[in-house]
Amino acid sequence: MGLTGAARLAGVMGWPVAHSLSPRLHGLWLDRYGIDGAYVPLAVHPDRFAEAFRGLVALGFRGANVTIPHKEQAFALCDRLTGRARAIGAVNTLVIGEDGLVTGDNTDAFGFIENLRTDAQATGAFEGPALVLGAGGASRAVVHGLLAEGVPEVRLANRTRARSETLAEVFGQCVRVVDWPVPHAACADVRLAVNTTSLGLGGGDMAPLLDVLPALPAEALVTDIVYKPRITPFLLAARARGHRIVDGLGMLLHQARPGFEAWFGTAPEVTADIRAAILSDL
Ligand code: ATR
Repeated sequence: MGLTGAARLAGVMGWPVAHSLSPRLHGLWLDRYGIDGAYVPLAVHPDRFAEAFRGLVALGFRGANVTIPHKEQAFALCDRLTGRARAIGAVNTLVIGEDGLVTGDNTDAFGFIENLRTDAQATGAFEGPALVLGAGGASRAVVHGLLAEGVPEVRLANRTRARSETLAEVFGQCVRVVDWPVPHAACADVRLAVNTTSLGLGGGDMAPLLDVLPALPAEALVTDIVYKPRITPFLLAARARGHRIVDGLGMLLHQARPGFEAWFGTAPEVTADIRAAILSDL
């Protein structure tokens, strides 16, 4: 469908941005719902982010997604922040109001939780202690999501202990720092194990990650936030041991929903055909 002069505009700012799957995903939804709107890739150099941010407002964009390396800069520039953006300390979604003020949101925790909530495999995953591996930016969103979902305890393990301790201080007493490699005793009653480290993307000693698996109870659900490859080495090994697994692609799809709804006025659905189309682009 061609655009009219009243088309609503949004996009994704990143550097680089060419690998982003978001333009394709939002484009599929725009077509599906017959919306007069466009979602475009915006390659913004970090030195020019503030300029680009103001430019979006000047151009009348409804908003944008913000990806690596701009999430912290965006956090600092927004006029308002949602509670979850403030808790996570980064922004991935900008919503520009009619008054020109920019609200910064973070939908990563929502995406992570929705991916599990909507997967029949994941039943009961939030009803006991969760083990989160890694303490970077993505981990912070995962921990926020799990606590908001009422998980009774999050055990946090990271190679660099100081980072997990910082997160535990931010999130309070339901988060307990455990050693890296993870002691088997800390795994025995875990209901959900989440990999948020970049291990498995190539390079790095996978052993501390894989060593967790034999210590988990058989009913524990195992998930990974990395979606490329869709079934990561960690998930492959978990599946081979008989665990239920959920891959990370759904997190990417679900985290896009709140932005689309805010900019284009329709709540989009993550359907099997949308998932298949994005998968074919991976
Ligand atoms: P993101 O925002 O995607 O979470 P990040 O902040 O760079 O990215 O975090 C990467 C995570 O992977 C961290 O938890 C990191 O551990 P450190 O804090 O010790 O760096 C983890 N990670 C990366 N390479 C690793 C490796 N070889 N062994 C163990 N953990 C690793």
